Amino acid sequence: NLTLVFFIIAAYLIGSLSFAVIVSRVMGLADPRSYGSNNPGATNVLRSGNKKAAALTLLGDALKGWVAVFAAQQFAPIAGVSAGLPFDQLIAAVALAVTIGHMWPVFFQFKGGKGVATAAGILLALNGWLGLATLGIWLFVAKGLKISSLSAICAAIAAPFLCWLFLPVPAYLAAVIAISLLLIVRHKQNILGLLSGKEGKIGDKA
Ligand code: G3P
Repeated sequence: NLTLVFFIIAAYLIGSLSFAVIVSRVMGLADPRSYGSNNPGATNVLRSGNKKAAALTLLGDALKGWVAVFAAQQFAPIAGVSAGLPFDQLIAAVALAVTIGHMWPVFFQFKGGKGVATAAGILLALNGWLGLATLGIWLFVAKGLKISSLSAICAAIAAPFLCWLFLPVPAYLAAVIAISLLLIVRHKQNILGLLSGKEGKIGDKA
């Protein structure tokens, strides 16, 4: 159980690396928590007009989700957890922990993002088809409607069903449902914006 605690803390710390804030700082841009939606995420960094910073944010936040889960999958057997229920539960807990780190980062006053890019990385690491299918939903809605938050909400609603289809394991289903719920709750302002027709399009400047 000490192993479980270690993996969860490591995942939480990895998740706490808010790439929107880190990339913006390194590139000498304003803190994304100070403009637009105030959200430290790729969509909001794009509102600064700097596409490279937005792409790096997307990549960094997705990669950390992928790395946390992938590393746990590789190191768990070394720590004596190789397969079956304990392994699945450990990986599921890591997936949730990296998400929580992204949303409430210990390094950035607990003011984190909404979890979209990180969830994409997590899903890709859990199961390639699950990740790609969920990404497909995001892209499909984004192409049609050009609203980042709505695309994310649709993908988050679809993800548990896609998990049930491609990775029907109770521990992963529970983690994906929890991550989807957290992600949707984090989009509260966006949902209000969508309902009042005020939600902007991808690429609109702040
Ligand atoms: O990545 C988060 C996205 O779904 C919404 O971001 O900045 O429009 O609230 P934002």
